[in-house]
Amino acid sequence: MAKEQRTIFIIFGGSGDLAHRKLYPALFKLYVKGYLQDHFAVIGTARRPWSHEYFRQTVMESIGADIGDQEKISSFAQHFYYQAHDVNDANHYVALKKLAAQLSQQYQTGANQIFYMAVAPRFFGTVASHINSEGLLTAQGYNRLVIEKPFGRDLKSATELNSSIAATFQENQIYRIDHYLGKEMVQALPLLRFTNPILEAVWNKNYLSNVQITLAETLGVGERAGYYETAGALRDMIQNHALQILGLVAMEKPQEFSSAAVHQEKSRLFAQLPTYSPEQVAVNFVRGQYGADHKGNQLAYRQADNVADDSPIETFVAGKILIDNPRWQGVPFYVRSGKRLCQKTTRIDLVFKTTANKIFSQAQLQEVATQPVILSIFVEPTQGLSLALNGTNPGMALRPFMHTLDFWQSQEEMSNSQEAYEKLLIDIIHGDQTNFTNWQEQEHTWRFIDQIRQYWDQNVPQFPNYYSNSFGPKASNELLARDGNEWVWSNEFGQ
Ligand code: BG6
Repeated sequence: MAKEQRTIFIIFGGSGDLAHRKLYPALFKLYVKGYLQDHFAVIGTARRPWSHEYFRQTVMESIGADIGDQEKISSFAQHFYYQAHDVNDANHYVALKKLAAQLSQQYQTGANQIFYMAVAPRFFGTVASHINSEGLLTAQGYNRLVIEKPFGRDLKSATELNSSIAATFQENQIYRIDHYLGKEMVQALPLLRFTNPILEAVWNKNYLSNVQITLAETLGVGERAGYYETAGALRDMIQNHALQILGLVAMEKPQEFSSAAVHQEKSRLFAQLPTYSPEQVAVNFVRGQYGADHKGNQLAYRQADNVADDSPIETFVAGKILIDNPRWQGVPFYVRSGKRLCQKTTRIDLVFKTTANKIFSQAQLQEVATQPVILSIFVEPTQGLSLALNGTNPGMALRPFMHTLDFWQSQEEMSNSQEAYEKLLIDIIHGDQTNFTNWQEQEHTWRFIDQIRQYWDQNVPQFPNYYSNSFGPKASNELLARDGNEWVWSNEFGQ
């Protein structure tokens, strides 16, 4: 059994989709594992006038029968309380404070509080400042603030948001969620890099030709068009998830594996993201928007509900990023993310340089030349590693052949693996900020993203430019072809 933790969760937006889909099932798993036992309570707040009982019913329904028996689910739900709440009404915070104080006594939670913002981002600042003005912070226990993405929509709004929460919470109390940092294989990156000399030694410009980070989705924009029309793939996936992965792949070795040291190295790396002129943006970043599929079974983005007929919003981005430091000079990092692609896959491909073939002549090597060595790290939906190496096929002549060394998590291990939210929640309870983003990282990544956004906003794109169920627009392949490279995850493996 895990060590029991004492705390109160105050979830703003407690009746919402995120809370029910992600947070309550994750909290329940922590309850089953014993991290949460008798000394915790959850207060859900939202506008609707729900009773505690009704709220508990919705919480129980959010937990699939496959992860717990009914009795356990129902004893878990008894820890849930509901408070109708208007984020702008100071009186409601006073009522909330009273309820939290009472539950803190009742459950002996040591006055520890986790404030979780699962509301629309425009309310983040308002809620944080009321927490301060109505005195909700406790003097004895810890007070932590959890913020969902998006953290702003450009550098200016992110800075404003940060100032509004920084008036109430110190940086070491703020947990900015990027759920990709909760994924097992993303968390494994520092360990892979820094405990395997065989990898650490070659993780640089001397051996690597390019690095590819792919976040491909099969889903379209679904019912989130309202938000997506104001965001687009650049803000939705690149500023956060793709760049955070890039940070972990490209940062220098931290002095130790602590939150402070990892953030220091990631921030340093992000400070080196390139400055692009508009002309350079045009060359280094491409965007796309999905049309219908070849067969016309799936609708185009512009045909989705709440999407403008002439929407210029991108559902696909591919970009080339050069990091000008001694480790990476001249090694392009290609990032790409898109909706309605032909496969759901999150992967990192490290493509090695083909060392000049000094000793084998083409006459000695029959038929085919050697291929670049590739290390692929599969994040989702399968988790694993594969290393493609040059070898030979048996026979009289030297016939180069790619051998692949694979490691895949078994189905059983995958089903035991913790979901991103479960891992992140336990980190918050333990006070470990390693797997969250800090303000400096946000600042640097937004500065970089703003350059691209500004150029794109001034130029009307020709959309749609890729079919649903494909690998994205042609321009994405051309981006790499110009450097003599190609995507590892590409047509030859798919359609
Ligand atoms: C979210 C984006 O952050 O990540 C969504 O807002 C996207 O648009 C989702 O679909 C993808 O997450 P995952 O874990 O399914 O790869």
